[in-house]
Amino acid sequence: MSKIIIEGNKKLKGKIEISGAKNSTVALIPAAILCDEEVTINNVPEISDTEAMEEILTFLGATVKGRSGTIKIDPSKIESKEIPEEISKKLRASYYFMSALLAKYKKACMYFPGGCSIGSRPIDQTLKGYRALGATVIEEGNKYTVFADKLIGGEVYLDMPSVGATVNTMLVAVKAEGITTINNAAKEPEIVNIATFLNNMGAKIRGAGTSIIIIEGVESLKKASIEVIPDRIEAGTYIIIASLLGKDLVIENIIPEHLESLILKLKESGVDIVVKDDHCIINSVDYLKPISIKTLGFPGFPTDLQQPLSTFLTQCNGVSSIEETLYENRFKNLEQLERMGAKVRIEDKKAYITGKTNLKGKVVQATDLRGGACVVIAGLIAKGKTEIENSEHILRGYSMIVEKLQEVGAKISIED
Ligand code: EPU
Repeated sequence: MSKIIIEGNKKLKGKIEISGAKNSTVALIPAAILCDEEVTINNVPEISDTEAMEEILTFLGATVKGRSGTIKIDPSKIESKEIPEEISKKLRASYYFMSALLAKYKKACMYFPGGCSIGSRPIDQTLKGYRALGATVIEEGNKYTVFADKLIGGEVYLDMPSVGATVNTMLVAVKAEGITTINNAAKEPEIVNIATFLNNMGAKIRGAGTSIIIIEGVESLKKASIEVIPDRIEAGTYIIIASLLGKDLVIENIIPEHLESLILKLKESGVDIVVKDDHCIINSVDYLKPISIKTLGFPGFPTDLQQPLSTFLTQCNGVSSIEETLYENRFKNLEQLERMGAKVRIEDKKAYITGKTNLKGKVVQATDLRGGACVVIAGLIAKGKTEIENSEHILRGYSMIVEKLQEVGAKISIED
């Protein structure tokens, strides 16, 4: 168990560089096994979710060079083995391997994937995609066996624009015979990153980033490389921190279009933010207005940023609100914020936060990855010492978070 310790209320100055996106990386790694030759992935973040993905790769028989930065994957000796439950449940993205194995070997077997405990997170849309492409799915408790004699392109309509189901269907469709159309596809930038990687290998995918993706299956995929896009959720988290504590704090290596919903909401609240091509400069201000947000798929306000934003809302003068439309259990972090002095009221899918409140350092829990980011931000603005238990959740998705914050003047450390 890791513990992050913060002495709060210090202004932050300097530069923070954003790492590669977790939610791209965890799909690019399984996508690599569709290739027949070695592939290269650049700008891989140093997070524990990447380690977990590499563990699955090695288990399946791939050769992997590198842990972060540049990694090279040779999938030529992979076998489609059953992925044991303890590995399957380490992270949500483990089921991308099921799709890649089904596409390449026409069979795969694994258990229900893991991930943050933020809601029920069913996988029915992924299974619907498999069936539409001709696969048989056998469900025995939480074990899934999928196989096909032949995968044939088909028409898939997703009931909701699920990121996971879009990626999974794309992974299977690139090796299916004929054309697959994914309707109501998710439009997240990570999906474009994954489609670009597959196209670099020779796949024929059009429309990634829109709600209709068309994939023409190909027989084989060749050596290729890809650069992981900057992590928009990590960037958003540091932008929120800078909005509360920044003194000309620069957040570098961002794609501003990926952060538009957050930046516009922060501006509405009164934040002093100057956005340039690939970085932004932020100064904290004395007075912030309350704001209301509703989480939606891209380009709407990302659910992954509502938990970090909740701490920001404690510093706005008046009643702010968050409506969470994707996950039924993504407010657990608010109990921790309340322990530090926040005024919170939850009614069904909506949380109301009344500010401004002066937060006080306390012993709190990282309830999950983004809930952990929420209490890190709270610790940074609070008076006194904050100890964050279960901080390993935070290390799943924030590359070098302690070092990056120390570099700009935060008093933060981590203990095992
Ligand atoms: N859903 C279904 N059935 C499905 C799939 C999804 O009902 O078959 C529902 C979910 O329950 C949820 C909504 O559809 O209400 C959206 O789920 P989605 O499938 O889009 O989410 P995901 O692929 O499981 C990814 C990210 C999450 C992020 C969401 C939404 C990865 C590995 N995870 O999850 O990231 O919250 O998209 O943007 O890409 C995080 O990084 O902290 C994180 C949780």
